[in-house]
Formats: sequence, structure tokens, C-alpha cells
Amino acid sequence: MTLTDPPRLSRLTFHGPLSETRAAGLVDRLVRNGPATILDIGCGWGELTLRLLEAQPTATAVGVDLNAEDLARGRRNAEARGLADRADFVEGNAAELPGAAADLVLCLGAAQALTDNAPPHTADALRVLRGLVAPGGRVLLGEGFWERPPTADELAAMWPGASAEEHHDLATLAELAEEAGFRVEWIETANRDEWEEFESRYQSDVEVWLAAHHDHPEAAGTRERVRRHRSSWLRGYRGVLGLAYLTLVPVD
Ligand SMILES: C[S@@+](CC[C@H](N)C(=O)[O-])C[C@H]1O[C@@H](n2cnc3c(N)ncnc32)[C@H](O)[C@@H]1O
Repeated sequence: MTLTDPPRLSRLTFHGPLSETRAAGLVDRLVRNGPATILDIGCGWGELTLRLLEAQPTATAVGVDLNAEDLARGRRNAEARGLADRADFVEGNAAELPGAAADLVLCLGAAQALTDNAPPHTADALRVLRGLVAPGGRVLLGEGFWERPPTADELAAMWPGASAEEHHDLATLAELAEEAGFRVEWIETANRDEWEEFESRYQSDVEVWLAAHHDHPEAAGTRERVRRHRSSWLRGYRGVLGLAYLTLVPVD
């Protein structure tokens, strides 16, 4: 990458709507029963996993993702924080994971990584997660749900092919977790501030770059990509798509 290329996700701490306060609460709860092994499915750069390793100095973690650039960012962050010997960032398809169970399994915004099926992925992903967590362990599922049924206009504005069947409501999401063999220890959802911070951080580095690189060969395409994404949020899923964080306990 040259210095003048558009940046990518450089202002995001987490790749999802997650505040520092909520992240700290999640880490506190998830290390309470002393996980020795952590598996992060669709980990990206794995910021929450690195914080879990900091809070649980005897634990080791494996993160799996398809995106080599994000994995490299995770490895750099692990190195900088003295965690490299306990954090393994693996490039691969999470749907092809060997079945070794972990004490703590994270799947944040990545349920689609666990199934080859068409949406909704949630029920299938929950069944896979049940098989990946060790007895007495925990799963943290970060999963989309509808805050209310989307209108036809909102769906048309969201993303190509968006449909009301893609997600469930929050009550159904919790019931699906039960049906997959979990008790739902904790339910929390990203709030408006977390979404606005996430969406703003998602594009703000590129917005600032565009202001300074109006004539760059990549400017026109980048402007259009930013415009489309912002429109899909503001005309489509803002206030309609929720993100739930469910802490799940496997039933013995
Ligand atoms: C919304 S991001 C969330 C990243 C991370 N879990 C976090 O919360 O910061 C979804 C991630 O899932 C990854 N992903 C999608 N399909 C995958 C697959 N089949 N196997 C592994 N990772 C996958 C993407 O590359 C992306 O990094």
C-alpha cells in the first residue's frame, strides 16, 4: 500500500458496535470461570480476544478468519502487548474447523462463517457452537436481530438481496439458543450510541482521506462506496437491525 491509498477500518477498535464499557463488562463475566482455551470464530483482528488474554494470563487463544490483512493486524497487536505466544491468528474457513472444543468460544458478527446455508444462519450456527464449547464453558454470540420488522423500503435500502427472513427478533434468538442446548446467561444489545460510533469510525478515516484526495484515481470509486454504505445505514438498517451479545452456557 502506498501512503496515499485510502485507509481501511483504521479508526475501529472493534469490528462491530461495541463500547469500551460493554467490552469491559463482557471480559469480566467471561473470565469468571477461568477459561484455559479461547476460540474466536471470524476473529478479524481479535481485539476482544486479546483483552480476554490480558485478563486471563494463563489462557491461550486461537482466532480464525479469512481476511489476511485483519489477521496480520491482530498479530501485530498481540506482539505489541506481549501476547504473541498465547494468541494464534489462523487464516482459514471457520466452517472447516477441526472439532477441538474450547472453554470459551466467541462468534461476533460471524455466524455466517459457520454454515454454508442461506440466511438465516443463526440456528445452524448455534448448533455448531454447541459442539465447539467444552463442558462448563461459555459461548459469546454477537448476532444480528430485528429491533422491529423492517419495511419493504428499508429492506430495499439495506444491502443487495436483504430480506426479512435474514434475522429473527430478540426473543426468538434467545429461544433458538435454548433449542440448540444452551441456557442464556446474559442478554445485552448494542445501543444507539454504539451503532453511531461504529458506523462513524467505520468510514471516518476514508471520509477525511477523500477530502484531501479529491483527484486521486481511486477517489470516485471510494466516494461511491462510502455513499452506498452510508445510505444503507441511514435509509436501511439504522434503528431496525440490532446486534445482540448473548452469553451462553452449554447444558450438561
Ligand atoms: C463483522 S466481522 C467481525 C470480526 C470480529 N469477530 C470482531 O467482532 O471484531 C466478521 C468477520 O467474519 C469473517 N468471516 C466471514 N466468513 C468467514 C469464514 N467462512 N471463515 C472465517 N471467517 C469468516 C470476516 O472475514 C470478518 O472478519
